[in-house]
Amino acid sequence: MVGMEACSWYDEEQTTMNYLVFNWKMNPGTRSDADKLMRAVIKSGKKKNVIVAPPFAYLERIKKMIQKTSIALGAQNVAFSQPSGGMLTGEVSASMLSDFGVEYVIIGHSERRYQLGEDDVHVRGKVEMVQKAGMVPVVCVGERHNMSFSRAKQAVIRQLFAGLKNASPRKKLIVAYEPVWAIGGDKDVSPSRAVRMIMEIQTWLDRRVKKNVPVLYGGSVHADNADDFLAHRCVKGLLVGSASLNPKEVSALVEKVR
Ligand code: PGA
Repeated sequence: MVGMEACSWYDEEQTTMNYLVFNWKMNPGTRSDADKLMRAVIKSGKKKNVIVAPPFAYLERIKKMIQKTSIALGAQNVAFSQPSGGMLTGEVSASMLSDFGVEYVIIGHSERRYQLGEDDVHVRGKVEMVQKAGMVPVVCVGERHNMSFSRAKQAVIRQLFAGLKNASPRKKLIVAYEPVWAIGGDKDVSPSRAVRMIMEIQTWLDRRVKKNVPVLYGGSVHADNADDFLAHRCVKGLLVGSASLNPKEVSALVEKVR
């Protein structure tokens, strides 16, 4: 397959991952459903590096439920700045999230970029705020439409450049490659193309930010196709949306965490 050669660590036996991020987005609809879903994640085993990012409204109860597990708490958003007097109606600051016990924050998700007008200035500010507060930014990048690899690469590198301008090389960072056209849970994505892009991202990060930044893949991942991505050592984990709402999918995916 095109691109596989580019991943020098290709290894058919390697089908476990380091990071599994469950992005619940604006789901589920009720607190009791959130509890049910969380119980499914907990039942799947006490694995490190499983990160659950529920909506803000459920953070408190999810935090209580994961207290005796090694599951980490993630947030789906954060304020891009900390103006004096807290003058940013509707936003939640990085210091509040960190004080609450959030460890990871998803930044620059395509739904925020394209439906809520999040731009490079926001992404850059959020990365800075999150790192300063001692949490780990999970920065999403990805081309918006299905286009040639070279154009897609241009778009992705541009987002990295703009979004990570102020990222600290001394602090932790995770990047997730999510081709926007592949998001939705049921899209047909070529793992070889995704891996090829992840290699490009890794090379860019090595040169411009720091070495060994974990790069994850996201976009229509489920238990059945997860191994196709994880067969490559350069893919350090998965960011999962739709499948994270299905308890069966959740346990099968958690199984794969190293
Ligand atoms: P999906 O979403 O798994 O439903 O494609 C991934 C994401 O949007 O993070």
